[in-house]
Amino acid sequence: MNSTILVTGGSGFIGSHTTVALQQAGYRVLILDNLCNSRLEVLSRIKKITGTEPGFVKADIRDSKALAAVFQSNRIAAVMHFAGLKAVGESNQQPLQYYDNNVNGSVQLLTVMKQAGVKVFVFSSSATVYGDPQRLPLTEDHPRSATNPYGHTKLVVEDILESLYKAEGDWRIARLRYFNPVGAHPSGLIGEAPQGTPNNLMPYVAQVAVGARPRLQIFGGDYNTADGTGVRDYIHVTDLAQGHVAALRYCEQMQDELLTVNLGTGKGYSVLEMVHAFEQASSKPIAYDIVGRRAGDIAACWADTTQAERKLGWRASKSIKEMCDDAWRWQVAPGSWA
Ligand code: NAD
Ligand code: WQD
Repeated sequence: MNSTILVTGGSGFIGSHTTVALQQAGYRVLILDNLCNSRLEVLSRIKKITGTEPGFVKADIRDSKALAAVFQSNRIAAVMHFAGLKAVGESNQQPLQYYDNNVNGSVQLLTVMKQAGVKVFVFSSSATVYGDPQRLPLTEDHPRSATNPYGHTKLVVEDILESLYKAEGDWRIARLRYFNPVGAHPSGLIGEAPQGTPNNLMPYVAQVAVGARPRLQIFGGDYNTADGTGVRDYIHVTDLAQGHVAALRYCEQMQDELLTVNLGTGKGYSVLEMVHAFEQASSKPIAYDIVGRRAGDIAACWADTTQAERKLGWRASKSIKEMCDDAWRWQVAPGSWA
């Protein structure tokens, strides 16, 4: 039996692209997902891209029995943990669900890993842990804070991982802080698929371009940025996926370290710049209104990528044109569920 990487949440947006990257790097992947925000069809799409269908277990990370059975019947070398809930607004309405899925779920998973003696763990954290930036670009030592339950779950799991590493130094843990993942696989076979009204900018813009929604609301035109709209560090999801492969390789070699790195491009683009880039990619006009600020939003945020480059030997390479071209290809692909 070759050893396998267990990818929780692997049928979701970032997990599916990372599964492709892992397979293409020669790893065997077993996905564990409860399909609350993804589809089984992703598996055959991954096979179309890589030639290999990943293993799949339909289970919830909070189900310790099911998790233990997975570790008993597979030789798992490492876990990449994407499974969780991610909608900021919903987390304000249903905080218990968020703490249960994201915090309790992570504790259950780590407990079963410890029992099974598997101690390599790559965690999906978020730039949301930096709160409202005191300085830019954001370095990993910037103070952390949370303004909503979702962000707080990421902060708490980061702390749990630090405590675990302090208690048991033989864990190999990476805490990866993603900036704003966008785009889709260039094949047009997998991509982001928000349920209901998209919360995030890029899927919303794509739905306006395709005619599924009439107009974009731009939240705030009076920020202290070049054009007054919010600035973010958008990163192509396939670059992000490669960052995970680099982090896994680093974990396999590292000693006496708890790795915490930003995965971003280091560049910020405004909402209006992204809208115009998407208009170019889709050749469709994006109708918009500039409305009031969204509660909890920050003006600007982008990563310092020095640590990722120095430690992982990884840097994002794809432009906003490629992000928009690929998101559009996925949006209009026959068989897309975007
Ligand atoms: P996603 O919703 O597309 O993928 C998450 C997957 O986890 C889904 O397939 C869902 O079915 C599964 N899942 C959820 N709860 C589960 C549970 N209890 N048990 C088993 N499976 C469960 O989201 P994504 O955008 O791919 O995000 C992946 C991870 O990255 C999440 O932890 C998210 O918080 C984090 N993250 C995402 C972003 C972003 O903007 N997309 C930014 C920073 C961090
Ligand atoms: C980007 C910009 C909005 C929608 C969120 C989470 C964060 C992380 C990534 C997981 C902002 C503007 C948006 C719209 C708009 N997720 N916007 N109209 O807010 O940077 O981050 O997703 O960890 O935790 O908070 O991303 O895509 O929602 O917004 O004008 O309909 O687009 O105000 O300036 P955000 P986003």
